[in-house]
Amino acid sequence: MKKLRQLYEGKAKKVFTTDDPDLVIVEYKDDATAFNGEKRGTIVGKGVINNKMTNYFMQLLSETGIPTHFIRELSDRETLVRCVSIVPLEVIVRNIAAGSFSKRYGVEEGRLLRRPTLEFSYKNDDLGDPLINTYHIYALDLASPAEVGLITEYAFKINDFLKSTLAQCGITLVDFKLEFGKTSSGEIILADEISPDTCRFWDSKTGEKLDKDRFRQDLGNVEGAYREMARRLFG
Ligand code: TMP
Repeated sequence: MKKLRQLYEGKAKKVFTTDDPDLVIVEYKDDATAFNGEKRGTIVGKGVINNKMTNYFMQLLSETGIPTHFIRELSDRETLVRCVSIVPLEVIVRNIAAGSFSKRYGVEEGRLLRRPTLEFSYKNDDLGDPLINTYHIYALDLASPAEVGLITEYAFKINDFLKSTLAQCGITLVDFKLEFGKTSSGEIILADEISPDTCRFWDSKTGEKLDKDRFRQDLGNVEGAYREMARRLFG
């Protein structure tokens, strides 16, 4: 399968058409941004790690009954996926308080939440991806109640699966962001990526941050954190 034409370039990935209208190729870049693109940088080798890690998780999730866009890895940085229209929601699951949750609700980072939480942001860079509730989602026709129901069910199942898979590698899954897409036949499937760019991973023993917060917060050894996550999962 070959890339034909660039459809889209995002902050961390490019998307290309193929000769099959139902399939596109994603290419992972080393570019990193934070704070809605205000902070920019490069994390050398990130694209290769995020491609491999996303495909690893998506394959396992498919086996547990979560439909995903993954078809086949084509190279270090390129993967063939199903073409979808992205539901314009960032779906965020949290197990432990951190990031915007800690800030918004005045909760110390690291507090174990009594139960996992789910929130939606409206995926719109011009507005800075504002938090949105389900009434707003339906009022704006961003997704139907049935679609939000399915997304919610998938998100919590993905949380259970990722939490236990990562725990076996000595990693605590703090929180993560998912994106879902709709196929031409209207099926809701998991899309985008699952990587240190989109998850908070803490070493279970030391609490060391092994994700993009090292870049966001200038903690140093950013590349090392991505490599360590790859080592924990793939040896
Ligand atoms: P937050 O605490 O900043 O809201 O982030 C929650 C989770 O979502 C965290 O794992 C990082 C991820 N995330 C993204 O993938 N993209 C984003 O643009 C933001 C702000 C967060």
